[in-house]
Amino acid sequence: MCGITGYIGFREAYPVIIKGLQRLEYRGYDSAGVMLYDGKNINLAKTKGKVSDLQEKVKQEISNQGQIGLGHTRWATHGIPNDINSHPHVSQSGDLVIVHNGIIENYDSIKQELISRGYSFKSDTDTEVLINLIQEVKEKYQVKLGKAVQLALKQVIGAYAIAVFDKTKPDEIVVGRLGSPIAIGVGEDYKEFFVASDASPFIEYTKDAIYLEDEEMAIIKKGREVKVRKIKDDSEIDPDILELELNLEQIEKGGYEHFMLKEIHEQPRAITDTFRGRLLMDQAIIKMAGVEDNMKKFLNADRIIIVACGTSWHAGLVAEYIFEEFARIPVEVEYASEFRYRNPVITEKDVLIAISQSGETADTLAAIKLAKEKGAFVFGVCNVVGSSIARETHAGAYTHAGPEIGVASTKAFTTQITVLSLMALRLARAKGTMSSSVYRLHLQEMEMIPQKIEKLLAIDEQVKGIAKKYLLSTNCLYLGRGYNFPVALEGALKLKEISYIHAEGYPAAEMKHGPIALIDDRMPVVVIATNKGHYEKVVSNIQEIKSRNGKIIAVVTEGDTTVKDIADHTIEIPETEEAFSPLLTTIPLQLLSYHIAVMRDCNVDQPRNLAKSVTVE
Ligand code: F6R
Repeated sequence: MCGITGYIGFREAYPVIIKGLQRLEYRGYDSAGVMLYDGKNINLAKTKGKVSDLQEKVKQEISNQGQIGLGHTRWATHGIPNDINSHPHVSQSGDLVIVHNGIIENYDSIKQELISRGYSFKSDTDTEVLINLIQEVKEKYQVKLGKAVQLALKQVIGAYAIAVFDKTKPDEIVVGRLGSPIAIGVGEDYKEFFVASDASPFIEYTKDAIYLEDEEMAIIKKGREVKVRKIKDDSEIDPDILELELNLEQIEKGGYEHFMLKEIHEQPRAITDTFRGRLLMDQAIIKMAGVEDNMKKFLNADRIIIVACGTSWHAGLVAEYIFEEFARIPVEVEYASEFRYRNPVITEKDVLIAISQSGETADTLAAIKLAKEKGAFVFGVCNVVGSSIARETHAGAYTHAGPEIGVASTKAFTTQITVLSLMALRLARAKGTMSSSVYRLHLQEMEMIPQKIEKLLAIDEQVKGIAKKYLLSTNCLYLGRGYNFPVALEGALKLKEISYIHAEGYPAAEMKHGPIALIDDRMPVVVIATNKGHYEKVVSNIQEIKSRNGKIIAVVTEGDTTVKDIADHTIEIPETEEAFSPLLTTIPLQLLSYHIAVMRDCNVDQPRNLAKSVTVE
């Protein structure tokens, strides 16, 4: 977690850094800080709170001049969020400044060693230890900053993306990476450089970017060049300069009150983009390069293991139903955090699919590495192009949702399900587990999904009305069966993470094994009751809730009359194949949590304690 940014060039650094930090706030937002070098002095401002609080502090306390700067927005790991623990951190000599995203696991032993050599520490952070270690190495071996950073990083266990500035050599910034992302924006003729956790802070200045790989560092010299080296052996690397496809419009709110609402409304477009070049209706085929190139691996697989976290794990659960139904391949879905530590049985005949919006989730990344070590073929489903998971996997398919900035995942979820459904259909055809006529029908249904979501989004006002009635609830139950059981889990997660109302998702039939005891006239129960998904059974569950005075909010297929007679509220979704219904039933649940959170005055895009990119385990 945490977002880091830096600038060295001919512009005033402060506006670049502040705008960059605002774009990186999704990575953490409990404190923020900036360092500006004005040619003579290091000016530092740091504060608990958001980037807007930092702007106030800068106004009151420091000069914002200078063409070199570093910035940080924090998600606390070591040390509570307060002014002192905020980054940047300065070394004891006062010359070196660092911003850091990650965790230095062996910081305590290094700290004790440094204390024994006369160092003292102001903060509780691992980062202050690292900058003093760099200082110690620099002085001890009388080396330049780049060498000192390299030697210090060789002593460090953990994860990091760092940017370091040295006042005694103010024409360069040194950056390094292990396990946390870092991008370098390269300005025209090397006249300026940008550093950031992702490319969003610099897309209006340059489209040329270098993404460091793990265990690489770079020495960025103003007006000259970027030298990339391996941390381990100091060998030089010729870096690939990629041309970014991201544009400014994609990362702005575009007239919506919140990114989350914008992203909910972007789903028809995001799914259409995810189909592009893959769902070829004129030929009635699906073509996915990552699958075609590795078809044998998929067809010979004993099983598919899906690993992911949070919302992406819910997409994996939907995929389990779809892969097993369509392609008849056994699927297991695992929390990456559990999988990586439980010595799982993995063989060369397993295919592991890792799902991740950010492509940076530490546990998912570790699960991938483990599966690779044991010889499994690893396929990634990621949204962020060039992310660590996209690069670590053997092959993969991007979701093309575009940047997802709201911390609560919406369009990433539906595009993940889209990619996985396309894969399942493609494999079903290749394995012969689906007839060509049924296959063609499914393709037609898939193609219609974006326009059905577009139509469905008109329920916004109705959902807002329902939200008004339940905004003071303290608990909420979500029920679904089959393909819509994972949607119930996802609906509950959305509500709890942005409105802080306790919510649980359950398979509808499990209710009678415990949760039914919770139902009374204060308990809203959201039930997904689509017409093809064990409909009668779910109707019975709804009756059971009704007879205990629970408040029923039902998501039904259009034209439904039975549930309408029983439920307190019904929200209609367009008719579709049951397997694709999660792409529709999810929409009202996203809107419901959004409106409840807004009415409760919660920070929808930046819920407390969370961060978009979970780069710590
Ligand atoms: C919830 C949410 C999280 C993420 C989880 C995994 O709305 O966004 O639960 O799904 O942290 O993140 P990724 O998909 O980036 O690996």
